[in-house]
Amino acid sequence: MKIDLALMPFELEKKDLRGKAVAVVDALRATSTMVAAFENGCSAFIPVSTVEEAMQLAALKKDPDLLLGGERKAMPLEGFHLGNSPRDYRPEKVRGKVVVLTTTNGTQALLAARKAAEVFIGAFLNISALSGRLQETGRDVIIACSGEKGLFCLEDTVCAGAIIDCLEQEGVSVSKSDAAMAAKVLYEFYEGDIYGMLAGCDWGQYLESVGLGKDLRICAQVDSSRLVPVYREGKIFLDR
Ligand code: MLT
Repeated sequence: MKIDLALMPFELEKKDLRGKAVAVVDALRATSTMVAAFENGCSAFIPVSTVEEAMQLAALKKDPDLLLGGERKAMPLEGFHLGNSPRDYRPEKVRGKVVVLTTTNGTQALLAARKAAEVFIGAFLNISALSGRLQETGRDVIIACSGEKGLFCLEDTVCAGAIIDCLEQEGVSVSKSDAAMAAKVLYEFYEGDIYGMLAGCDWGQYLESVGLGKDLRICAQVDSSRLVPVYREGKIFLDR
């Protein structure tokens, strides 16, 4: 299996996604929140780029089972039902619901990945399950880091390294690009303290500063879930 990495979403435009499996990672917090939401019975997400698009879609559908979720600068949006904190997505709020989601980086990375043959949602929460799913595809893999406003971020790259490490631990013969090798080395440096890495990175410090520090503990729960949401035909859902 060949593994490459997009350290930032714009790199996806430069890569040939045809026939590839892409794992999109936004460890803080969008993809972690999605996994947590599915654990709590959420039925699907529809990722969209802008707040206006999200509102238009909700107005068009007029469906009581459709909720609006998302953030800007990590804060919930006015008139939306949910923010982007995994703690918002409690069973009583999200069971059976479809969430139209717009976030600063995570949903943009997902939209950029949609030309791939298969797209999966990755986070520290589902590393092993995701690794299994990637192996099943038999495809070459690109891990798409969501980054921060188009720039590199540490937490997604370390998470990508964790996925690569897991594949290798499971005996998969992995041919790594330079970016994939760099991610693996970063993961080896931080693997003993994923929470510490999340608390020390730029976005983790920002989340702490705006009172969302509790989310870091949740996003650091390595392998707490066996769920691997897929992004297909505009929707994120569980296909098994
Ligand atoms: C994003 O998509 O930019 C993030 O998930 C931001 C956040 O922590 O809410």
